Amino acid sequence: MYPITTGNLTTVESLFLTETLAGLQACPKFMHAKYFYDERGDYIFQQIMEMDEYYLTNAEMNIFSNQAEQIAELIKGDTPFDLIELGAGDATKSIHLLRVLGKHNLEFSYLPIDISAHVISDLEDNLPKELPELDIKGLNGDYLHMLQKGITLSNRRKVVLFMGANIGNMDQAEVQTFLGSVRKLLAKGDMLIIGFDLKKNPKQILAAYNDSKGITSAFNLNLLERINKELGGDFELENFEHYVSYDPESGACKSYLISLKDHIVHIGAVTIPFVKDEYIYMEISQKYSLEDIERLASRSGFQYEHNFFDVNRYFVDAVWTVS
Ligand SMILES: C[S@@+](CC[C@H](N)C(=O)[O-])C[C@H]1O[C@@H](n2cnc3c(N)ncnc32)[C@H](O)[C@@H]1O
Repeated sequence: MYPITTGNLTTVESLFLTETLAGLQACPKFMHAKYFYDERGDYIFQQIMEMDEYYLTNAEMNIFSNQAEQIAELIKGDTPFDLIELGAGDATKSIHLLRVLGKHNLEFSYLPIDISAHVISDLEDNLPKELPELDIKGLNGDYLHMLQKGITLSNRRKVVLFMGANIGNMDQAEVQTFLGSVRKLLAKGDMLIIGFDLKKNPKQILAAYNDSKGITSAFNLNLLERINKELGGDFELENFEHYVSYDPESGACKSYLISLKDHIVHIGAVTIPFVKDEYIYMEISQKYSLEDIERLASRSGFQYEHNFFDVNRYFVDAVWTVS
């Protein structure tokens, strides 16, 4: 065990430390979902996306693999543009759109943003192998900081992609603030395409976040391991159990880690006591109705353009413009 001082850390690590300690010293305890994605977190999330129970990936893949031409038609306009993707991950869905945009010889640059440095370097290495003509510039960092930076890189109009129901990882207040900030950074005529997971049978939703093979559990527990590795923590993973709840009225699906006994964890020199059955709130995955989504667009200063649904109507990619 070594005492961590922020003097030894990079800005990113020091924010990770500060936010983690603030969350674990709060009552009730919580963590920030953005820290799930270290290299192992990225890897486990790939496995989640391949699970039968995790219908979200197939649903949005169904939209992008079958309707990329129609999406391209809506965004192509008459002038060159920057396509900025927030939380791009491995871009396995957006690549369908990139391919179609390239096929039509549209003049655009692709700016994927991701908090995971590993994701950005992979995209910059691998996408040009598949799409040699693609003009790509990756931006490593938080959504809004990097969007602000990305927007200043050219005077072209902007099309912002925010897929994978990543927006569901924000609670209602955060969503409103976030969309308001995105709106302020954009200009009239710019577009925003957001993937929302729709409200549906609660059992189907619960299974997606609490699979029988324990992959979603491993994804949550990995954040404790990351704290051990990067921040000098001594979490013992067997002292925690993954738990998921879904409220069909509010549409909130929440993940927790439950402490199985009274015990003490250290992060560097800081002591964090846990009592038996206490929870750490890990993540929200908010589900939406179409009415919720329309309300969100108009409250944040966007105009509805079109909804693209998958074949089962589990998921929607909503296209909004800045009016
Ligand atoms: C659930 S994955 C989805 C990836 C992709 N959009 C898709 O639909 O397949 C979330 C991605 O967003 C990134 N991410 C999460 N929080 C972020 C934040 N606050 N700023 C930037 N990227 C973030 C993660 O690193 C991860 O690659």
